[in-house]
Amino acid sequence: MRFSIVAAVAACATTVSAVPTPGWKGEHRPGWKTSANPFTFTSTYSVKATPDQVIGPDGPTGGLAGATGYYELGLNSDTNTICYNITLIGFRGDYQSAALTATHIHEAAKGATGPPRIAFPNPVGDEKYANSIGCIKGPFATGIDNADGVDTGAAFQVSQIEANPAGFFADAHSSLAVPGAVRGQIA
Ligand SMILES: *[C@@H]1O[C@H](CO)[C@@H](O)[C@H](O)[C@H]1NC(C)=O
Repeated sequence: MRFSIVAAVAACATTVSAVPTPGWKGEHRPGWKTSANPFTFTSTYSVKATPDQVIGPDGPTGGLAGATGYYELGLNSDTNTICYNITLIGFRGDYQSAALTATHIHEAAKGATGPPRIAFPNPVGDEKYANSIGCIKGPFATGIDNADGVDTGAAFQVSQIEANPAGFFADAHSSLAVPGAVRGQIA
């Protein structure tokens, strides 16, 4: 019994020492202690989405009165990954969109409309608080095709947001406000 424990420890130690352990000792890892997040973001954005910013085909729609969206986004342009913590407060109706989900990043400047580039899982909860957290990595799929029949997310790189954050917005679509319940420019 004693022998086998020693053997197991020895085997384990051998295995561990064979594996590179960068940063194990003495290296400062920003964010490690506070968020337990071992991943690196090349940029982060905090977006408040409101009804008054929603634009439909004919201009401002007013969105869904009383609803607010908070989009915390962390991008890694090296791995084409986007992490999200999306919270909807006061969202009502059903999620409704022709895309795969009804919670998106679209490409368009303030006051304009444009295609979805990323479809996030819809926040889950109730009217008081609904939330969606995770990370997705390209190639992205929105379920909407461009004129060539290619998904509007397929070629999208998150580095495009970093290059021009004012050219993108986050939103969520409701059956009570199909063009959008809330919308906020990334910058
Ligand atoms: C997600 O965002 C909400 C609202 O901003 C916040 O209360 C919550 O702590 C965040 N969750 C994580 C895991 O960061």
